[in-house]
Amino acid sequence: MESKKIAGERAVDYVRDGMIVGLGTGSTVYWTLSRLGEKIKQGLSIQAVATSVQTESLAKEFGIALIPFSKVESIDLTIDGADEVDPEWNLVKGGGGALLREKIVADASKRLIIVADESKLVRHLGKFPLPVEVVKFGFEWTMRRLSGLGCSVKPRLSGDNPFVTDNGNFIVDCSFESIVRPRELHREINDIPGVIDNGLFIDRASRVIVGCQDGTVKELNS
Ligand code: A5P
Repeated sequence: MESKKIAGERAVDYVRDGMIVGLGTGSTVYWTLSRLGEKIKQGLSIQAVATSVQTESLAKEFGIALIPFSKVESIDLTIDGADEVDPEWNLVKGGGGALLREKIVADASKRLIIVADESKLVRHLGKFPLPVEVVKFGFEWTMRRLSGLGCSVKPRLSGDNPFVTDNGNFIVDCSFESIVRPRELHREINDIPGVIDNGLFIDRASRVIVGCQDGTVKELNS
């Protein structure tokens, strides 16, 4: 909790007046949002694009001005969390189910800063089940095709019902244990009809800010 807080807050040092800022999703970014809210009260002026309904409502709570993504030509900086970060800064994201909007916003961003606690740093991606967003139609078939890639698959639930993303789709969590070639796997997964996107983020992060147990913050540059 404390390590997420210090990482999430540190990223706000990179936000400058007049920027358009992409706001990620999750419990680490929560601290980014709350710190941004404080800075805005002190006079910082930015506009922001949210990557989820949850972040949208937190941004409103913290007094962060939102603009529709459709009105934006490009985003100066996005700050987002991750479920796993490998030594090349490839990421697994989507633990909160927001991977699709997060990837679209990351794609439109000049810089992507990842905030994480040190438990997220891994040698190989894959221990954390890879979230895959799939369309509802035929999702049982899509799950079978995904398991053909060598993973065990689980439809994500919310209580007794399927979890539905902000985009109206389902999530399938795919346990690979170890992802050795993330770039190839990304392509193979997205080649399956019914898959919209998956939580692998390859070559997207421009900085990783890690909060450590001992209260220090490590900043990794590309
Ligand atoms: C949301 O769907 C995810 O991509 C989050 O960014 C990721 O799960 C990290 O979340 P925490 O900061 O809550 O660990």
